[in-house]
Amino acid sequence: MKLTVVGAGNVGATVAECVARMDIVNEIALIDIVEGVAQGKALDLMEAAPIHGFDTVLHGGSDYALTEGSDITVITAGIPRKPGMSRDDLLKTNAEIVGSVTRQVVDASPNTILIVVSNPLDVMSYVAYMESGFPSQRVMGMAGVLDTARYRAFLKMELGVSVRDINAMLLGGHGDSMTPLPRFTTVGTQPVTNLIAEDRLEEIIERTKKGGGEIVKLMGTSAWYAPGAGAAEMVEAIVKDSNRVLPAAAWVTGQYGLQDMFIGVPVKLGKGGVKEVVTLDLNEKEQSDMQASGAHVREVIEAYERIKEGQAA
Ligand code: NAI
Ligand code: 2OP
Repeated sequence: MKLTVVGAGNVGATVAECVARMDIVNEIALIDIVEGVAQGKALDLMEAAPIHGFDTVLHGGSDYALTEGSDITVITAGIPRKPGMSRDDLLKTNAEIVGSVTRQVVDASPNTILIVVSNPLDVMSYVAYMESGFPSQRVMGMAGVLDTARYRAFLKMELGVSVRDINAMLLGGHGDSMTPLPRFTTVGTQPVTNLIAEDRLEEIIERTKKGGGEIVKLMGTSAWYAPGAGAAEMVEAIVKDSNRVLPAAAWVTGQYGLQDMFIGVPVKLGKGGVKEVVTLDLNEKEQSDMQASGAHVREVIEAYERIKEGQAA
């Protein structure tokens, strides 16, 4: 079993480290456009193997020949938004990066499964899908695992219980329009709505929605430990064919009243990728939040299509 991680920056290196420490793949290829970075990080991680006790072999470099025959590829290549940069500028730059990375990955590994992490997540998953020409089962985006983990971490801080006993689901696009679902959140076997007052729970949900920004404010750059662990959890579910039900950006074909886009939904994840989009029975408010989130993702897809048309003209 072989994993490729493209982008050996903060998130990419963390994905490689998490998966290596799980000792579930034979080989990890780490790729970055900057000479030496991926090679150096792969070597550093190999040198940690005797301490952690994993046998996964890591290679790093800039040449996609290293990635040949990968079963799974995680794409973290991209740039964060810089001061003075509009969202459309970021969209254009990262779409170009993700598009070019996808084409090179697909040439080397036509049967790989793609897990996209680069932002804006839902639309970068769409770009990878369009550029790869893969069936939708083999393309997905990681954000829901991260957003749900943040939500569960905040609930743990509030209630002082083990994170292992907090089950939660969250839908929608990665950003302010995400839709956490308190009605589907349990602590032990109890609904969280029995344990936390409505207004306090609303504050925790708001903090979850702005969780990415909270880290950026503290560090001046975006998070990597939880995002890296999130992508690694998805890799693990696929490698072990464990049929985990996890939130992921997946191609929807009418589920939740949405279609022709990637958006956060619960998926059954295992061998071959997304085995099923799981449909929850939403109430009116949850359904309307999901529609609003879908409308936001659609706006960004349209901005991307306009940029592409501009380039073609
Ligand atoms: P980073 O700047 O530390 O790493 C990005 C790496 O991509 C750099 O090493 C850069 O050299 C490389 N890169 C750029 N263009 C490339 C290309 N054409 N081919 C190969 N490598 C290339 O950034 P970080 O913190 O690792 O974040 C990566 C991306 O993930 C960003 O777009 C960020 O917004 C996104 N992100 C998404 C999250 C999610 O929940 N989906 C969570 C956290 C970050
Ligand atoms: C995050 O949620 C910035 O998408 C990134 O941390």
